[in-house]
Amino acid sequence: MNNLMLTPIKTVSDHRGKLSVLSENLDVPFKIRRIYYIYNTNKIHERGFHAHKETRQFAICIKGHCKIELDNANNSKVYELKDPCQGLLIDSMIWHYMFDFSDDCILLVLANKLYDENDYIHDYEEFKSNCEI
Ligand code: TYD
Repeated sequence: MNNLMLTPIKTVSDHRGKLSVLSENLDVPFKIRRIYYIYNTNKIHERGFHAHKETRQFAICIKGHCKIELDNANNSKVYELKDPCQGLLIDSMIWHYMFDFSDDCILLVLANKLYDENDYIHDYEEFKSNCEI
């Protein structure tokens, strides 16, 4: 998981507040084709439990906090997202799930592809065997 880590987001801070900025192909390592956000969350319910064949995503917790586990079929690591000036790359072919959401969490996700259910792998064993190819 060495290449997968929380990335600092360029942030301009002054007495008026903070402004964080992400530019495609620069801070986010892909062209941004889709944005979605997860909110109205709670501590009990977990999300994800899938990998994407081609979709690459960049997640920023812009309010509250949550955790994301990334698994590359060899090892896994939990990342805590609690700061709007940090983002996490969820690359293609990375099994991931999100949990421990605060009630006020807003998780913003940028993606390089439009939504396509066929891009999902929902079965962990299928994910593992696809990683071995
Ligand atoms: P999903 O990607 O499974 O998210 P999570 O694992 O966090 O639950 O999406 C949940 C639902 O939302 C599913 O019915 C598909 C739908 N959805 C879209 O219609 N468009 C999108 O861009 C995304 C991400 C999800």
